[in-house]
Amino acid sequence: MINTNVVEQNLSPSLFNQQGDIPQSEQDAFVYLYHWIGNYTGLHFPPNKHVNLYRRLICLNQRLNFRDLNEMVLHLQNHDDPSLPAELARVISTNHSFFFRETAILGYFRKKIIPTLPVSSPWRIWSAAAASGEEAYTLAIMMVEELGLTQALNQVAILGTDISYPMITQAEDGVYHKQKLESTSPSTLMHYFKPAGTDQYSIVPWIKPICTFRRLNLKSSPWPFQNQFHVIFCRNVLYYFDHTLQMEIVERMYDHTLPGGWLITSVTENLKKAPTRWQNVTTGVYRKI
Ligand SMILES: C[S@@+](CC[C@H](N)C(=O)[O-])C[C@H]1O[C@@H](n2cnc3c(N)ncnc32)[C@H](O)[C@@H]1O
Repeated sequence: MINTNVVEQNLSPSLFNQQGDIPQSEQDAFVYLYHWIGNYTGLHFPPNKHVNLYRRLICLNQRLNFRDLNEMVLHLQNHDDPSLPAELARVISTNHSFFFRETAILGYFRKKIIPTLPVSSPWRIWSAAAASGEEAYTLAIMMVEELGLTQALNQVAILGTDISYPMITQAEDGVYHKQKLESTSPSTLMHYFKPAGTDQYSIVPWIKPICTFRRLNLKSSPWPFQNQFHVIFCRNVLYYFDHTLQMEIVERMYDHTLPGGWLITSVTENLKKAPTRWQNVTTGVYRKI
């Protein structure tokens, strides 16, 4: 039987505005999963996306051979099986990313931030919601362009993390559809990618050692880092979280950043009005002073 405690505490009337789309027999299970997902990932679906979430859950349900959402919930409640949470996280998150996304902020990184990094120590850069590695490899390419390959391999360590295991596997494979490379210049494409089948390109193997990929849920605590970072990229993920979680994450990132280090969000995820220890340098760019 479904334990409805979570459902009863947090029942949102808006979830039932679309009753026609969600069968009565699955509504409790849907609400349970909706709240479970929010608690586990921090991701919240606004009312106009509930039917979309339901459809994604139904697809997962079929793939995993559960009879209906009720059976999925029972499995979640009664089995200590890490694969279902991982599948749920994958199914509900938006993994849209592409190479050289938001060129203005990348230009700022290249011109204003790289020169502030201390040459005496290896640079630790974290791409904190890395999707399938587009951001991490973009930064690696920029580092090779700035430093040359040999120095970049010695000087730079880029860690890409994401909540989704399949994203991490794809990042490690480094093979991308050409659509992900539409903002990549022809010369960069030629130099750093090789054709890999129809409309696919793979990142050149010699740049891969700059990047390491690991699975990490930003909502989990503590984060398993021994050393602080010089720069953290946390782009296009904060806006999925509520304000409290956004602040909790950026403040924890502050603690995981070296003095003088940087946080880069996307330009639309502005923390300007939020009370934070980060000093806002320009839109989407923050510094630990
Ligand atoms: C829209 S992509 C952004 C990718 C990249 N940062 C960019 O700007 O192109 C958002 C990523 O955040 C990941 N994500 C969502 N919730 C997360 C969480 N709680 N912890 C870690 N990653 C999460 C998703 O799996 C997805 O790959």
